[in-house]
Amino acid sequence: MASEPVNVSEFQELARQALPKMYYDFYAGGAEDQQTLEENVKAFHRIIIRPRILVDVSRVDMSTTILGYNTSAPIMVAPTALHKLAHPEVATARAAAACGTIMALSFTSMCTVEEVASSCNAVRFFQLYVYKKREISALMVQRAERNGFKAIILTADTPRLGRREADIKNKMISPQLKNLEGLVSTEVHTDKGSNMEAFASRTLDASLCWKDIGWLKSITSLPILIKGILTREDAIKAVEVGVAGIVVSNHGARQLDYSPATITVLEEVILAVRGRIPVLFDGGVRRGTDIFKALALGARAVMIGRPIIYGLAAKGEDGVRRVLSMLKDELELTMALSGCCSVKDITRRHVMTEQDRLHC
Ligand code: FNR
Repeated sequence: MASEPVNVSEFQELARQALPKMYYDFYAGGAEDQQTLEENVKAFHRIIIRPRILVDVSRVDMSTTILGYNTSAPIMVAPTALHKLAHPEVATARAAAACGTIMALSFTSMCTVEEVASSCNAVRFFQLYVYKKREISALMVQRAERNGFKAIILTADTPRLGRREADIKNKMISPQLKNLEGLVSTEVHTDKGSNMEAFASRTLDASLCWKDIGWLKSITSLPILIKGILTREDAIKAVEVGVAGIVVSNHGARQLDYSPATITVLEEVILAVRGRIPVLFDGGVRRGTDIFKALALGARAVMIGRPIIYGLAAKGEDGVRRVLSMLKDELELTMALSGCCSVKDITRRHVMTEQDRLHC
């Protein structure tokens, strides 16, 4: 590609060219038939924007708050593992900070929480997996808290790892995770070529359930968000157990194939939550118009997964900055062309879903 990338899809192509196939496949791939992977993106295409005209949009303000923290736009960096296969997580952290967005650092980061915390000053959240050895997860929560992270995002859709066939074929190995050094034994880590799935099933606590939210609350004073909600039933439970927020997510379609495209269940969750806690959203966001649609359906903010990694792989820290800036520019333009001067102006009436069309 001779010219500079102008959208996420062009960054993806650059990332594909820049990375060894094994790493690109790890980042880009989904579970099994990848039906949900495809649908996460395509379901956005079926939502129509209903623009309003003759509104003074000479100034558009995208700023908002997430758990009370100011952000330049309703956009966050999703927690994604193993950035250092492309560039270290500190590069992502610096770019997120420069763009005024909150980064969620993955539990399976290759840089340590201390390195990320000292890389630059910014509001950050920490994503948590609960390991069979609970003391490892507890220690990670404490380290995050000590290093100024402002919230814990508990990923609850991963009692086991989804079947990612590209990783199986490529014999993708779990690399050493400096973040967990001294906590997870080298034996569990590498085991002479342990694959991702074997590593996950030896470490992840598949017995984790709703009552364990109490345990998590007992070990941290940070607000807790549950990530991986796809149904109204679980949204109601999350409100009942008293978490600070939830993330509608199917883990970027890497876990259960044929689970719903996230944008198709966002409204169900929003209606169940009834404004009691903020609802974040991720999965398939590739354009500013996608962000606008998720906000119109009730999300407080969206988290961006693969596009960040594509920027990182293509052009390091500057690539992440450019992906975030591009998405912000696209959102700002969408807002202006739809007659919305601020995030609060984006309403349910600004979109028409497939369901709406069936009922009208
Ligand atoms: C992820 N995701 C993820 N989620 C999480 O809670 N902890 C993690 O360590 C990871 N790791 C991870 C690695 C890679 C390579 C990807 C692509 C995704 C899921 C992530 O947080 C988010 O839910 C999705 O990436 C959102 O979908 P998009 O934006 O990638 O379509």
